[in-house]
Amino acid sequence: MMKESDIQLLNEIARFEDSHDMVKEYKIGWGWRHVRIWPATLSRLFKDGYLETVFQSNSFTGYRLSDLGKKVVAGEKVDVTGVSPQLEPQKITLPDDLFEDIIGHDEVKELLRASLMAEKPVHVLLGGPPALAKTLFLWDIERACGEEKAIWLVGSATSKAGLWDLVAQREPQVLMIDELDKMNAADMAALLSMMEGGRLVRAKVGRELNLSQALWVLAATNRVDVLAPELRSRFAIRRLNPYSRAEYLTVVKGVLVRREDTSPELAEEIAQRLDGRTQDVREAIRVARLAPQVGVEKAVHLLLGD
Ligand SMILES: Nc1ncnc2c1ncn2[C@@H]1O[C@H](COP(=O)(O)OP(=O)(O)OP(=O)(O)O)[C@@H](O)[C@H]1O
Ligand SMILES: [Mg+2]
Repeated sequence: MMKESDIQLLNEIARFEDSHDMVKEYKIGWGWRHVRIWPATLSRLFKDGYLETVFQSNSFTGYRLSDLGKKVVAGEKVDVTGVSPQLEPQKITLPDDLFEDIIGHDEVKELLRASLMAEKPVHVLLGGPPALAKTLFLWDIERACGEEKAIWLVGSATSKAGLWDLVAQREPQVLMIDELDKMNAADMAALLSMMEGGRLVRAKVGRELNLSQALWVLAATNRVDVLAPELRSRFAIRRLNPYSRAEYLTVVKGVLVRREDTSPELAEEIAQRLDGRTQDVREAIRVARLAPQVGVEKAVHLLLGD
């Protein structure tokens, strides 16, 4: 039996298609933004055979109603047993240049890759002091997974709708949570159940979430120690250590040249001047931004004092 809500969705889609010229306006199909239906829902309707894809690229999937979808809209009896749904979730494919912009941290890269390639979820939490590229890791993964599969959250700013509804609506495969330690208690409770996966869990009356699609959780925090033990237990926790002096030099030079458009000579000078004075990459970025006006020496003096 097809869900009533899915039939409604197909009807909305049919109305959209009827009110536009599909050949002229939507030659490559329409996307989720056009019909205002979450990508995960569309890909489910596609897997069940009600939609077909006209076009596919990394950033856009163009759909249109399939013959089966049209039959449903027309109210014809549909023999769904004849359709073989591909229930396998699309596997995440990771590009070779994932984490290319992150210098060092080789084992963290390996761990995250292995976690994402695993058959079943291994959740990973990156812990450690500021400015060690934790957020950068989450960004890179989000970009690689794409907006259909990944949801990005910041603990201190979780949406009003709440984590539960967000995941129920969008059915992501990967959940990225930055500043995990600042997440509110309700979202935290939801997260604990989701991370165990597979079961039918109930948040509020009338709202059930069937996590048939496995969910990977990747998170970052400055403060692993303040997290509840049951939350910590659900993660593979990887603590990033502050950079050694040699690492700091390498990272600073790399970041300044690649991301701040600093010349290699100036980057070298800044790295040398800060060597032994700070381990914070952000400090080097500030110096690089002030240096064109006041020079490196003065910039260091103004920012760090004597
Ligand atoms: N290994 C690295 N490779 C590339 N960039 C780095 C590296 N380490 C630090 N950075 C740079 O330092 C800055 C801070 O990085 P990021 O925001 O990812 O740190 P964080 O670990 O999330 O810090 P916080 O705990 O304060 O949130 C960014 O500009 C980033 O480019
Ligand atoms: Mg961060």
